[in-house]
Amino acid sequence: MSVLSGKNILLGVTAGIAAYKSAFLVRLFVKKGANVKVVMTPSSKEFVTPLTLSTLSKNEVYSSFTKEDNENAQWNNHVELALWADLILIAPATANTLSKMANGTCDNLLLAVYLSAKCPVYYAPAMDLDMYKHPSTLIYFEKLNEFGNIQIPADFGELASGLEGQGRMAAPEKIISLVENNILDGLPLKNKNILITAGPTHEAIDPVRFIGNHSSGKTGYAIAEVAANLGAQVTLISGPVSLKINNDAINLISVTSANEMFKATHHYFKNCEIAILSAAVADFAPSKVALHKIKKKEETLTIQLNKTKDILASLGEIKSNKYLVGFALETQNELENAKTKLNKKNLDLIVLNSLNDKGAGFKLDTNKITLISKDNKIATFKVKTKKEVANDILQHIIKELHV
Ligand code: CTP
Repeated sequence: MSVLSGKNILLGVTAGIAAYKSAFLVRLFVKKGANVKVVMTPSSKEFVTPLTLSTLSKNEVYSSFTKEDNENAQWNNHVELALWADLILIAPATANTLSKMANGTCDNLLLAVYLSAKCPVYYAPAMDLDMYKHPSTLIYFEKLNEFGNIQIPADFGELASGLEGQGRMAAPEKIISLVENNILDGLPLKNKNILITAGPTHEAIDPVRFIGNHSSGKTGYAIAEVAANLGAQVTLISGPVSLKINNDAINLISVTSANEMFKATHHYFKNCEIAILSAAVADFAPSKVALHKIKKKEETLTIQLNKTKDILASLGEIKSNKYLVGFALETQNELENAKTKLNKKNLDLIVLNSLNDKGAGFKLDTNKITLISKDNKIATFKVKTKKEVANDILQHIIKELHV
């Protein structure tokens, strides 16, 4: 999955011949799963039609301060558009628009959006070779870069004038991959290997029966997704769940029993920097698994259970400088029990869920957590979606690790 997936992208189109390539840019962003809105300068409509861009983006295209069919009607709110955007790309960016951006001129909707933006702004210049290297253009580039705008340099090649040189807008595929790489470079968990366990384990009684629990795996899967979106390489060791993963940055290892989860977790622990064990591992497993289906001959059936190995505690013994996170699901003396687990299992952080809290627990899409760090610092959170909870946990880790 691309880092652009789910992102709000505002594409600014200005009046250069490369404006025809903006249709490809919209198409590629949409393919990456982004939401795209287009703001055009009035003259750019001579080069590409708003209809093309609205059809491809599946959104209205904006080019003036008011709705065009009725001058007295609603205005197009440039501030709202700017704040909607996670990133702005101005492509093509003509010499005229670049000079206005550098000087704070605000005589069209796109420039008003640009001046109102708080998000990263990328611009892909497109002009003839002599315009591109004119001293005034170079000054504007420098100024815009000083403002924190990110330039996507023009390519060399044949230009609309028939001349050859630097000035043609970078190819849409190249622009998209530069934007993706730039976002990846700035992600806080970039180059971090994170190991996550999730879901229940099933402990076989015979070939058709098992002992399990109600864990849905939703919390662990949400942590995996959010960690990957923050740039991490994730290994997700999952017990049997019905959830699916579709993310290249997540390596899913499926296991069934506590013992299989123990082995897989130890195997992948060696190469991780952070391990988050959210699985609801069975604490006991049948001491013997019947080879054939147990028949109901008797009135009662006694199954002897043996304690499973505590995966989290065993990692605590060998963790060295790895950051280890455990979960505690409690029904009474919650804080006390969680603190005891934190110390006993040698953890850096424990995530406490109380089954007494409304909105917390198995199968729900929400959870209410308390985070307790090694130094006994406690952070409490309100009921949130499991995705938001995952983000809270990861942001806490990022802060503690100063990454
Ligand atoms: N855990 C584990 N291996 C086990 C049991 C638990 O790795 N065999 C991990 C869980 O993934 C969780 C943490 O230990 O991160 C705490 O699990 P929990 O069931 O709350 O606590 P237990 O240590 O099993 O203690 P108890 O059931 O007695 O509360």
